[in-house]
Amino acid sequence: MATPSPNASADSPLGTLELRCPPLPKTLIDAMELINDPEHLEVKPVTEMVESDPLVVARLLQIVNSAYYGIRRSVSSVERAVVLLGPISVAGIVVGMNMLKLRSVIEGPGSACFSRLIEHSVATANLARELIDLLTRPGLQRQLRPRMDVIYSAALLHDFGKIILVYNYPEEAVALYDEEALSHHVTDTDVRYVEQLTFGCDHTEAGEYAANKLNFPELLTHVIRHHHDPDEAPVHDRLLEPILNVIDVANHASKAMGYSFSTPAGWASCGDATSWPAFAAASGVETPEMLREVLEPKSEALEQYVKQMTRFDIDEEGLKRVSRLQR
Ligand SMILES: [Fe+2]
Repeated sequence: MATPSPNASADSPLGTLELRCPPLPKTLIDAMELINDPEHLEVKPVTEMVESDPLVVARLLQIVNSAYYGIRRSVSSVERAVVLLGPISVAGIVVGMNMLKLRSVIEGPGSACFSRLIEHSVATANLARELIDLLTRPGLQRQLRPRMDVIYSAALLHDFGKIILVYNYPEEAVALYDEEALSHHVTDTDVRYVEQLTFGCDHTEAGEYAANKLNFPELLTHVIRHHHDPDEAPVHDRLLEPILNVIDVANHASKAMGYSFSTPAGWASCGDATSWPAFAAASGVETPEMLREVLEPKSEALEQYVKQMTRFDIDEEGLKRVSRLQR
């Protein structure tokens, strides 16, 4: 891994690009602050954060009452939902919900492209959690579990730079990603190369630039910048490398499971991930084929999860629950 650069963005030519950042919903900023301090992530502040946004309340209650969680009695209290799902999962739901809200700042041709990106991101975040469960290196799971919330959010936002590129250059970026989606031979490296040629920066650089401007937690910023080249990440956080490895492999696995954004890929491509050797050594999952055997039986649950998390509409029952709460 590279030595840390105290102010990498100042040395970057990106400063001259003047990329605009989309306005972020206040709840997203609150959620970022909470997950930046995971040791103090408790039920009360998470409940308060959820309650400040009726749409998030409705979605949370919709999710907790869905068959996916198998909770028998109907849940109508936000606090109870936070206790049942855990503040960690709820913080992830809040970040996910607010990512969906960014759809409203991307107009026209960008919105279909954005939906595909959200599905890829949600699948990657879900799979990152699955991959952490597979780690067998002594002590590693115990160290990563308390940071599961920030890892989930980082996996969810790993391609934040693509949102920034679509936001700044809607027509060019959508044309570029749609074309890549139709090709069957491009790789992530190609995508970044084409982004460089088209925009003067790739999505990892654009994402880092925006994440710094928006004061994202450090770990999220590093994941946004280095999810394709974990070897280049700074060394000051010793858990950053295993986190990047898990997200890198989850990113490839989500494509293999049918949730590719711009570059379709099969299971063999997991073995091409920069992080594969490190992940295999830490998990005992020696080949992409072994990973397929573990993850494919979960594909139906993953499909349900992605549907749950990417539905923007609130059903009638959800709205009734919110109005009951607000009375
Ligand atoms: Fe990426």
